[in-house]
Amino acid sequence: MAQDAVIGIIGGQGWMGRSLGMALLGSGEWRAERLLISSRTGQGEAFRDWPEVRCLNDNQALVDRADVVVLSVRPQDLDAIEVDAHGKLVISLLAMTSLEAIAERMGSRRVVRAMPNAAAELRRAYFPWYAASEVDDDDRWLVQTLLASCGTAREVPEERDLDYLTALSGAGPAYPALLAQALLTHARQAGIDDEIAREAVLETLVGGALLLEREGVDPGEMVERLIAYEGTTAKGLRSMIDGGLEQVVHRGLNEAYRAARGG
Ligand SMILES: NC(=O)c1ccc[n+]([C@@H]2O[C@H](COP(=O)([O-])OP(=O)(O)OC[C@H]3O[C@@H](n4cnc5c(N)ncnc54)[C@H](OP(=O)(O)O)[C@@H]3O)[C@@H](O)[C@H]2O)c1
Repeated sequence: MAQDAVIGIIGGQGWMGRSLGMALLGSGEWRAERLLISSRTGQGEAFRDWPEVRCLNDNQALVDRADVVVLSVRPQDLDAIEVDAHGKLVISLLAMTSLEAIAERMGSRRVVRAMPNAAAELRRAYFPWYAASEVDDDDRWLVQTLLASCGTAREVPEERDLDYLTALSGAGPAYPALLAQALLTHARQAGIDDEIAREAVLETLVGGALLLEREGVDPGEMVERLIAYEGTTAKGLRSMIDGGLEQVVHRGLNEAYRAARGG
């Protein structure tokens, strides 16, 4: 039973570790006594409202007590994690760090790489994951259940998919924020009151995303439909398309993908 598994999060006071821990508790599927976290700096504030969650400063003690070890430190801190997790199911949230590197560092072949994004704290993350061949069906079910507490979890067939999605969904609010900023700057330059500009931009982005989220809605068809409508939006869309918006986005994603592969 998933609820019986003890989950240990190394780096559980950090942004992603805390988001996952909170999402697990919030889902009602995990009891706080079944959650362990570790941190270099002690108990901290993260689980203030959940005193049953134990915080350790010894990563090996966490590994020894946990059935599932979630690794949620920054990639540059991986070398300092010196544990033997032989035989344990390990889920790494680290960007730019291969399955092989995690297996070697943690001493386990039962390794999953997963890529959260910042919306995990709202339980609206897209959370793809890739598993080593040593991860069996029961483990896969447990991983899917755990990660789905943060939003939409999805197993991907190849490790390269996870590197790619690190660049795309792993960026979380980054690309929407860039678009929002461009829209906002323009609205302000056009003399629109700050508060109204912000409200207009955010409601347009959120409302647009909700429309696109509906089943069967294809973004490309939506653009074509709006161009065919021949209204003011068509003029704006045509100008952005002719100006090379798609190419600029692709260049940015190529750069992020290269970085995600450690390049
Ligand atoms: N943030 C995002 O949007 C995002 C998106 C996709 C992927 N990720 C991945 O998620 C991972 C975590 O990122 P984050 O944003 O949550 O970073 P973060 O907020 O800096 O959290 C990392 C935590 O790791 C702890 N830590 C570091 N070394 C440790 C050690 N030796 N033992 C125990 N705890 C240790 C730190 O706490 P102490 O200082 O208290 O020890 C810190 O709170 C990263 O690998 C990143 O690539 C993050």
